[in-house]
Amino acid sequence: MDKQEIIDILSDNSKNDRLFKEADNVRMANVGDEVHLRGLIEFSNICKRQCKYCGLRSPNKDVERYRLSKEEMLQTAKNAVNLGYRTIVLQSGEDDYFDTDKMCEIIQSIKKLDVALTLSIGEKFYDEYKAFKEAGADRYLLRIETTDKNLYTAMHPNADFENRMNCLYNLKKLGYETGTGCLVGLPNQTIESLADDILFFKELDADMVGIGPFIPHEHTPFKDVAKGDFWLALKVMALTRITLPDINIPATTAMETLNPQGRIIALQSGANVVMPNVTGLEYRAKYEIYPGKICLNENAEQCRGCIEGKIKSIGRTISKDYGFRNFK
Ligand code: SAM
Ligand code: SF4
Ligand code: FES
Repeated sequence: MDKQEIIDILSDNSKNDRLFKEADNVRMANVGDEVHLRGLIEFSNICKRQCKYCGLRSPNKDVERYRLSKEEMLQTAKNAVNLGYRTIVLQSGEDDYFDTDKMCEIIQSIKKLDVALTLSIGEKFYDEYKAFKEAGADRYLLRIETTDKNLYTAMHPNADFENRMNCLYNLKKLGYETGTGCLVGLPNQTIESLADDILFFKELDADMVGIGPFIPHEHTPFKDVAKGDFWLALKVMALTRITLPDINIPATTAMETLNPQGRIIALQSGANVVMPNVTGLEYRAKYEIYPGKICLNENAEQCRGCIEGKIKSIGRTISKDYGFRNFK
């Protein structure tokens, strides 16, 4: 699909059902009916950045900040493995306390549990990404957020668009399964730029793409901005599936925050991955990137049971494999 075709589809809501069905067919033909579960550990909500949309941004003094110890992280990962997870995702703000040596130690100890390991800890230097890879990390998630450079610059004080791009190409070069994605509904974001985002995922040959609607947080500069549109985010996701037929695409938590059936609808419109939270209950409410996050009162075991029920209810199965893009 070229840019104009993508723009036309995004601008016209009269054929949405056909688009979602087509994305579901492409998903089935290329990655099958299995859903891959990734156990998400939100291990630090401390962040040095100031992304204008995010509740964890450093100027927000209204957050009780926390860090998990290495032992807590390992225990949380073990618990997830006992619940059947084959991938652990370590996510945090950009927290310099976790330097290269500390991260490598953590990666090595979690990899001993025979899991695939994904990192989502922000922009780092090439040598740091290299060290994490050598320590055993398999995948990395770093959303470009938007490919519109002016919009990116307006959203991210003191950040550099080129650097974020370079990080993604460095991750690919180092052999990570590389995940990216965008927010849908940022102020001043255009349909044209969303089309560019999809074309960028293709250009990068992203292995995973997460699309999330923007949700306003009251302690950010965007507290009065309207929330993103669930259906538009779903359309960007469906078009991503059609553009990159064999990649891994999560049904994101933000989608379920805006729509109680959000993840199930996403799984039937191109998605094949879910990332349930396995973080201890005492930390969940504190990792408030946006309000209304789901699963604040359900523990890892309850979430696992809940998501399994939902997946089975639509006739899909849970994968027992690591869930890499290119092989099982
Ligand atoms: N700090 C790392 C980073 O930014 O890449 C990883 C954690 S960050 C909380 C993960 C994702 O949360 C970001 O890529 C962003 O797209 C999403 N996010 C942040 N604020 C959001 C909001 N208000 N609504 C929806 N998604 C949001
Ligand atoms: Fe920090 Fe990530 Fe939130 Fe930006 S999106 S403020 S880098 S946690
Ligand atoms: Fe957490 Fe449903 S996945 S309660």
